[in-house]
Amino acid sequence: MTQQYKIALLPGDGIGPEILAVTVEVLNAIAPQFDLQFKFSEALIGGAAIDETGEPLPQETLDACRSSDAVLLAAIGGYKWDTLPRHQRPETGLLGLRAGLELFANLRPATIFPQLIDASTLKREVIEGVDIMVVRELTGGIYFGEPKGIFETETGEKRGVNTMAYRESEIDRIAKVAFETARKRKNKLCSVDKANVLDVSQLWRDRVTQIAKEYADVELSHLYVDNAAMQLIRAPKQFDTMVTGNLFGDILSDEAAMLTGSIGMLPSASLGASGAGVFEPVHGSAPDIAGQDKANPLAQVLSAAMMLRYGLNQPQAASKIEAAVSQVLESGYRTGDIMSQGMQQVGCRQMGDMLLKVLES
Ligand code: IPM
Ligand code: MG
Repeated sequence: MTQQYKIALLPGDGIGPEILAVTVEVLNAIAPQFDLQFKFSEALIGGAAIDETGEPLPQETLDACRSSDAVLLAAIGGYKWDTLPRHQRPETGLLGLRAGLELFANLRPATIFPQLIDASTLKREVIEGVDIMVVRELTGGIYFGEPKGIFETETGEKRGVNTMAYRESEIDRIAKVAFETARKRKNKLCSVDKANVLDVSQLWRDRVTQIAKEYADVELSHLYVDNAAMQLIRAPKQFDTMVTGNLFGDILSDEAAMLTGSIGMLPSASLGASGAGVFEPVHGSAPDIAGQDKANPLAQVLSAAMMLRYGLNQPQAASKIEAAVSQVLESGYRTGDIMSQGMQQVGCRQMGDMLLKVLES
């Protein structure tokens, strides 16, 4: 029997619509091969939503996501909206979506495609074989902690405030996701914090250590975030699964992405305890190249593969997409961001066409 899925599409801003269009074609191409049917519906988020409705996350969008099986998000943001008050910024829409769907667990794999080793700024021997999964806490920490804001002090001077806070229950649930993830990989988990300075990190470390007792088969280590940032560049192969809070995870996942050559290759999955997950590339909206058919659609396409694997439990369809990406790279096709000598440069649409060719052959 054909399995039907309702997928909410959130193209957002910049290169978002271009890379999402390619991804929809890819999904439509594999659907019949696995007896699947996707019912897509598009909704507004980010700058596109601000222009149309005045707010970055209209209630209608949140409702559409809640009533879907999964959400495919492209990218949000752009210069045009950077000076608006915070509640009207595109980023606020994204954070609202994460909070609204309670997507506390963000999985960001940094896996190197052997074909792209020379696109990295690091030496081949350092990065060959890198395969890291960053598990980032996504609905807590300094991104959401109260109090926050810019306040006027008694002297009339302004003071900007954010609060990094975690409850035990928030740490426990992300730690469990991380241990479970590590179990499906190499049974190695590194928890990253700043427990030498921050109380919130001390609690983080204590809870992760406590939860570890339920996962005796997983080898747990702890690193301070500054050291972790250094180790990621020095010897990335020491890492398998990493777990960390919202802000540290934001920073370390960009760093891990660059190990693989281009942030244009990396997908992510944001999951809650139940309900629709959001699947989006780690990269942003790249307004400088938007609308020019230059964008790399592969992180978005690989996000659809993550949707199939982690959101819809269709691992075979996921593997098929991942294999197609690998095959197209093997054939020498590259978008500008991953271009190297001797390869053939293609635009966003043509990269999509190459994928379709492989999938339909
Ligand atoms: C990310 C982005 C977002 C974040 C921004 C756009 C709000 O950098 O998904 O990593 O900081 O979480
Ligand atoms: Mg980021």
